[in-house]
Amino acid sequence: MEFFETVRVRRSVRAYTEEDVPGEVIERALDAALLAPNSSNMQTWGFYWVRSPREKALLVQACMSQGAARTARELIVVVAEPRRWKENRDEMLRKLTANQAPAFALDYYSKLIPFTYGFRWLSPVKWLLFNVAGWFRPMVRRPWSGRDIEEVSIKSAALASENFMLAISAQGFSTCPMEGFDESRVRRLLKLTRADRVVMVISVGRENPSRGIWGPQIRFPREKFIKQV
Ligand SMILES: Cc1cc2nc3c(=O)[nH]c(=O)nc-3n(C[C@H](O)[C@H](O)[C@H](O)COP(=O)(O)O)c2cc1C
Repeated sequence: MEFFETVRVRRSVRAYTEEDVPGEVIERALDAALLAPNSSNMQTWGFYWVRSPREKALLVQACMSQGAARTARELIVVVAEPRRWKENRDEMLRKLTANQAPAFALDYYSKLIPFTYGFRWLSPVKWLLFNVAGWFRPMVRRPWSGRDIEEVSIKSAALASENFMLAISAQGFSTCPMEGFDESRVRRLLKLTRADRVVMVISVGRENPSRGIWGPQIRFPREKFIKQV
């Protein structure tokens, strides 16, 4: 499907038919998710395709049994996992070294990334450093706290979620992103840590033609949001 057509036809679907979604459709969409741009290419994310009937039933409950989850043929949980930074940083350094990457790239991952992601106890010092330096020259002000690092991973996971949903639409199926879930229960179900953030549960299926979509797509006038500066 042509890109703009894919963007146009994607809608949040809250009721699906009983038609199965072929496994390859999900696999292709997951591959597309992994190609999303992400902060420092640290790939601090996880995608949990919940397939076992028992776990799926528990996940539906954790999604407040809402229609989009209850009638879904497949459910994917997108998780921000900032705790992965060390292993991913090491892997990145191995790959960059093998590719004979320039010294600045190696410095970025061996010095800047550990300073940014690690040394949480230095958070107030980082804040002070960024803000004092910022008086004199343009300065990146964040991330300085653990919460900021979490936010960085969440942004990347959200971009991956959109790639996933568009890839499903491009293959003729539908999705619904959900944040209406009990995060503690989803964490427990997937054996995640407290440092992991469940970003979205995405349901997938074939749109129920009579009640899948609640109405026409409503968007406010573009002038309200788009400014040329
Ligand atoms: C972060 C996020 C969370 C959402 N959570 C839910 C949800 O829990 N349940 C639901 O039915 N729709 C959910 N939606 C879907 C939105 O309601 C939907 O995208 C919006 O109404 C626009 O409709 P459209 O996607 O069909 O254009 C969510 C969307 C996003 C981006």
